[in-house]
Amino acid sequence: MLYFLLSKFLTDSGTSVMTISESDSFEIQDEDQLDHWLTTPSEALIRFMGTLRGNLLILGAGGKMGPTLAARAQFAAAKAQADLRVIAASRFSDNRSKQWLNANGVQTETVDLLDRKSIEQLPDADNVIFLVGSKFGTSANPSQTWMANTIVPANALERYPNARFVALSTGNVYPFSPTESGGSCVTDPVGPIGEYAQAALGRERVFQHYSVANETKTVLVRLNYAVDLRYGVLVDIATKVQAGTPIDLTCGYLNCIWQGDANDIIIRSLELADSPPRLINLTGEDTLSVRRIAEDFGQRLNRKVTFVGEESSNALLSNASETSRLLGSPNTSIDTILQQTANWVTREGRLLNKPTHFEVRDGVF
Ligand SMILES: NC(=O)c1ccc[n+]([C@@H]2O[C@H](COP(=O)([O-])OP(=O)(O)OC[C@H]3O[C@@H](n4cnc5c(N)ncnc54)[C@H](OP(=O)(O)O)[C@@H]3O)[C@@H](O)[C@H]2O)c1
Repeated sequence: MLYFLLSKFLTDSGTSVMTISESDSFEIQDEDQLDHWLTTPSEALIRFMGTLRGNLLILGAGGKMGPTLAARAQFAAAKAQADLRVIAASRFSDNRSKQWLNANGVQTETVDLLDRKSIEQLPDADNVIFLVGSKFGTSANPSQTWMANTIVPANALERYPNARFVALSTGNVYPFSPTESGGSCVTDPVGPIGEYAQAALGRERVFQHYSVANETKTVLVRLNYAVDLRYGVLVDIATKVQAGTPIDLTCGYLNCIWQGDANDIIIRSLELADSPPRLINLTGEDTLSVRRIAEDFGQRLNRKVTFVGEESSNALLSNASETSRLLGSPNTSIDTILQQTANWVTREGRLLNKPTHFEVRDGVF
């Protein structure tokens, strides 16, 4: 798989599986166009929303993925003429997310999910997508990470024992795998490195406990790097290349998936929910070389690229081929994402300034 990707970059970089407008030359110009791209549902999602019964509640909707996931679900429900409400709940510490959701017709509920009394006030729902998590700042405040990743799930599962859940987890629950291996599968043993990853595994364990105890149908989604143009591992590399900052190669390989594709698959994975929970990996189909990505950006941005360190023999990699078999492959090619990312960085499009710290190998965030 690794060699496939490298050869694809070297010989076939002008070919994409599918682009946003059937045209490789289309360039995202502003955030409205970007949000349109991120929130336009697939035909499969529209069909799926037409089958849903009861409200769809998205918990932790105020972060990087939640707003466009909720709007995508809302637009799919509208196209399917589905008789349900999409409700986005979060603390909304960034009020811009709440305003954007409301402007896109999504009902919002402001709630601290650590406060059990407030959770009781949330509307009933038959379907819950659980996005709450905490990663960055773990070394400074580990108890906050554990509260968000373990106590919040317990509160949500006690409030909605009869709902179907999709709960986001992370590929960080795996140990590193050899770079030529194609990545960890859900049948492989876990081996979280560092306290964030341990707390993320704790989140899975809480879901497993309640799913069995209350027969709450659940799917746990181990995601590796969703990418948007405003944040994500590719924009991290692109901005470094543009600034002339050396690229650290010690974490030399990774997987990523376009956030629109990730959100589409996350919503549709509700159909896999089961008790005990179903586990799936979610990421792109290729093992990507950080060196190749940086060199590609160097060409697109007309910058000389410098590197520090050398590729290790292993990296944090996941294998999502089983998920592709069950729910379809991601639609957006890596070439399209690279092209749009380079264009966005050149245009100085807005960035969230939330770096992924993809270089980290000791699990300290
Ligand atoms: N994005 C990725 O590439 C990626 C990769 C692997 C795994 N994941 C997983 O996918 C999930 C969603 O990703 P994301 O990037 O959107 O995460 P995120 O930006 O951290 O968003 C999660 C949101 O949860 C909300 N939250 C936290 N504590 C809460 C509480 N007590 N009550 C109510 N809301 C609370 C926060 O929103 P407020 O500001 O509104 O409080 C936070 O922004 C995360 O759980 C993460 O572990 C993401």
